[in-house]
Amino acid sequence: MQHTLLSRLKNDTAVCHTRLENALDLMRDDLQRDEYIALLQRFYGYVAPWEDAIGACMPASLRAFFDERRKAPLLAADIADLAALSGERAAPDALPHADALADLPRISDIGGAFGSMYVMEGSTLGGRFIAPHVARLLDLPPVIGNTYFDGYGARTGSMWNAFRETAAATVPEAQYDSAVSAAIDTFETLQAWLCSSLETPATSGAAA
Ligand code: HEM
Repeated sequence: MQHTLLSRLKNDTAVCHTRLENALDLMRDDLQRDEYIALLQRFYGYVAPWEDAIGACMPASLRAFFDERRKAPLLAADIADLAALSGERAAPDALPHADALADLPRISDIGGAFGSMYVMEGSTLGGRFIAPHVARLLDLPPVIGNTYFDGYGARTGSMWNAFRETAAATVPEAQYDSAVSAAIDTFETLQAWLCSSLETPATSGAAA
């Protein structure tokens, strides 16, 4: 009852979540460092323009709330750190960026912005399993290369609860449908963006 919006988002995107989780298959035991780096680069290419687009939809009163949740800087740091570990240089801004019109979800109201944000905020929950798995598998030094998946670290639970409260308090009931469609659209566009490159080897030019 308390969080009708959040229950709807969870139920109505469950299929999308399973599909994406299976497509990424990040918990597998044969994940290679190159594959992981390529995936982070691809995430960066979606998350950076997505944050600019959604941030622009936020009213002034929610700017700080949104800004403290930005994750593109974590991705950029992970990509740079992993490149440094292997003696390379990385320039996240040179990576392909999703196009706001062609590749990102269409957002028409604050309900849509929160529905889309639900997907990115929820990913921090799965990250609690992914971050330690990747660190162990790829033998990463502490706080190197997995800060995106580690998200808010020990604050993950409280940040998630605060997101839920703010979403429920901000989105009017008349926009619940809009929030759900935006969440589905976000899962689908993210999967399309991430997976269009997964079938082909990374285009890093480092083919050996
Ligand atoms: C690929 C590996 C992934 C795994 C293994 C995974 C796993 C999980 C798990 C275990 C939860 C529930 C955590 C809890 O209730 O404490 C969760 C929640 C969630 N994940 Fe994922 N996830 C993955 C990827 C993603 C991605 C890439 C996204 C979106 C960008 C995402 C979005 C969400 C959302 C929105 C929720 C919240 C569901 C809710 O309670 O409303 N997940 N995930």
